[in-house]
Amino acid sequence: MFTVASLPRLHAQQAPRLGSGQARTARDGVYTSAQAQRGEAVYQMQCVACHGASLAGEIGPPLAGQSFLGDWDRQPLADLFDKILNTMPADKAGTLTRPEVADAVAYILQANQFPAGSVNLDAGEAALRQISLPPAATGASADAVTANMSFPAVGSLSQVMRGILFPSSNVLFDVQAQDPGARPKPGARAEATTTSARYGDVYDAWRVVDAAAIAIAEVGPLLMTPGRRCENGKPVPVDRADWQQYVRGLVEVGRAAYRASQTRNQAAVSEVTNQISDACANCHRVYRDRATLAMRCTQP
Ligand code: HEC
Ligand code: HEC
Repeated sequence: MFTVASLPRLHAQQAPRLGSGQARTARDGVYTSAQAQRGEAVYQMQCVACHGASLAGEIGPPLAGQSFLGDWDRQPLADLFDKILNTMPADKAGTLTRPEVADAVAYILQANQFPAGSVNLDAGEAALRQISLPPAATGASADAVTANMSFPAVGSLSQVMRGILFPSSNVLFDVQAQDPGARPKPGARAEATTTSARYGDVYDAWRVVDAAAIAIAEVGPLLMTPGRRCENGKPVPVDRADWQQYVRGLVEVGRAAYRASQTRNQAAVSEVTNQISDACANCHRVYRDRATLAMRCTQP
């Protein structure tokens, strides 16, 4: 008999919720024209080759327009700032100063039609946390394109859980104990963490964390696939409102985990892992952890 795998134990991370009390948005004139002009110079030197002259994307993604704003929807500017500070320019990450990054962000805001104001965008973390990007307009959906394609379920719900959610969440939980950005001590044997053991040197550890978060953020359709069954043969209860709400909750924390991973900040990812385990547990409590296996996936 297969025993139910328990989730890894979590460290009690008592860090305060980040991003609370963002009073202002990028619409409120949070940079100056002069700063955006300096930012344009940084952009021309450091970014244009990959993101294009009109910020529409070249070999990197667009930094202006709907898809960009959708990525940063309601996020604190601090996260966009950290993404650039810690991972850009992609071929020489970590070479920009904080003031240069603030200028580049000002230029990106200007290119996205946010108005200039009378005070420079401050490069300090606390100030950047107080400003968020506004909610993005939801774009036209691709439903029409995909309506004629269907991908019937192959696995049971448990197999999807074991194949995708279990390993992906373990990669994220590992971040609590090990900073993906830490360089191994010279001569020390690499610790057999999930990331290093599974991927070796193929991808750098933060990219493995990014990908694990994406797997969680994108699992929604698989948990909603009509016709999938649980191990006991009961259909996955996709038409129940509470099921849908648990799926949405999981996808939301997957997105939050991705954004945290993008900042390359161990504490931020560790904090999100608590929300991930809650999102798993909320659904498990109702649909998995039942008195008998036969009751799994049935209405409580
Ligand atoms: C060598 C190519 C390259 C250079 C130079 C470069 N980038 Fe990038 N950038 C990328 C790639 C590839 C991605 C997508 C992968 C990722 O997010 O790391 C990216 C992603 C981004 C993102 C995230 C976009 C989103 O929608 O989430 C931002 C913001 C960004 N770059 C800003 C900059 C800025 C500002 C500079 C200049 C200081 C810069 N990049 C220089 C290649 C580059
Ligand atoms: C929307 C509901 C839901 C969410 C969210 C969810 N699960 Fe599950 N999970 C289930 C159900 C129901 C089962 C039992 C499936 C079966 O019996 O086929 C299950 C089973 C599992 C199993 C297999 C257990 C066994 O019996 O072998 C693992 C592992 C698992 N889940 C991990 C996770 C992790 C990790 C997360 C969060 C990242 C998660 N699940 C989120 C509903 C959910």
